[in-house]
Amino acid sequence: MRVRTAQMVGTGTPGAPGVRVDVYVRPGDAKRALRAEVLEGLCGRPKELSPKWLYDERGSQLFDDITRLPEYYPTRREREILLAHAGDVARLSGADTMIELGSGTSEKTRLLLDAMEEAGQLSRFVPFDVSEAFLRRAAADLAREYPGITVHAVVGDFERHLGQLPGGGRRLVAFLGGTIGNFKPAQRALFLRELSAGLRPGDGLLLGTDLIKDRERLHAAYNDRAGVTAEFNRNVLRVLNRELGGDFDPDAFEHFAPFDEENAWIEMRLVSRCAQTVWLSTLRRRVDFAEGEVLRTEVSCKFRQAQVEAELAEAGLTLTEWWTDAAGDFALSLALKR
Ligand code: AVJ
Repeated sequence: MRVRTAQMVGTGTPGAPGVRVDVYVRPGDAKRALRAEVLEGLCGRPKELSPKWLYDERGSQLFDDITRLPEYYPTRREREILLAHAGDVARLSGADTMIELGSGTSEKTRLLLDAMEEAGQLSRFVPFDVSEAFLRRAAADLAREYPGITVHAVVGDFERHLGQLPGGGRRLVAFLGGTIGNFKPAQRALFLRELSAGLRPGDGLLLGTDLIKDRERLHAAYNDRAGVTAEFNRNVLRVLNRELGGDFDPDAFEHFAPFDEENAWIEMRLVSRCAQTVWLSTLRRRVDFAEGEVLRTEVSCKFRQAQVEAELAEAGLTLTEWWTDAAGDFALSLALKR
């Protein structure tokens, strides 16, 4: 079915039957945003880019490889928690609609949908993602796998389009994987406030957060021996080369991801191995790097329960359950809108 509403920028091509797709972001938007951000982020000091540019097709594949590394525990730990508690999530949330921010293809999505279906309460799935092509594929697959439900996909940026989440029913918003850790504290407070503002009393949030632990394990998880995270990080330079006509030599940058105790975040860095100048032809800009100069490509915040609880409360969300894996590495929070 094709749908058009006043605020939407378009619906793209017709999708699979039974799937509704609302489009608030077009491919061109991303390119414009990248240009603006690179002008600001690469020409300032310290140099910084948003982690969202890490996830082109190759970057998404590399992240998928990361989730299977022996050192990278978050994905496995979160799956362990969901295997144990998906039924509790379904029962305690009482939700008939699951809205998933970020990927809608994972095994974790299916664990939650299966639990809601088993409880006889699943009527709608709303995958929300910034990549239209990806989302259309995921939505069509899920509509086939869960023929009894409505799949209503939303192509949007969760920093800008949270206000467009479809209403109705009792909703559970799932934001998994620890992706909330990519926001710095001020951005995170804003995000939680905006998300909460769109919820009605009784709606829920299922939030995945990585937990503070000894720095050796954190360090290993983001500086793996096989070098997959390094390749993932350097891939952003290939994205800049392709999208902005850049001439970055990825090998001229070293991956380094230290844990910053004070901010309780892992910081992914690309460190210039030498003094060098890069040309971005689309922007007609040269960017100078000193030897050892850092380009920050991501922060990944780590949490404690009291802090998560306080931040949720500040946004009008009451923490009702806090589940961790047996090792206490990762947490899933269920919070309800007051
Ligand atoms: C997808 C944001 C949860 O922060 O652990 C993995 C991304 N970066 N290795 C994370 C990531 C480096 C990941 N998140």
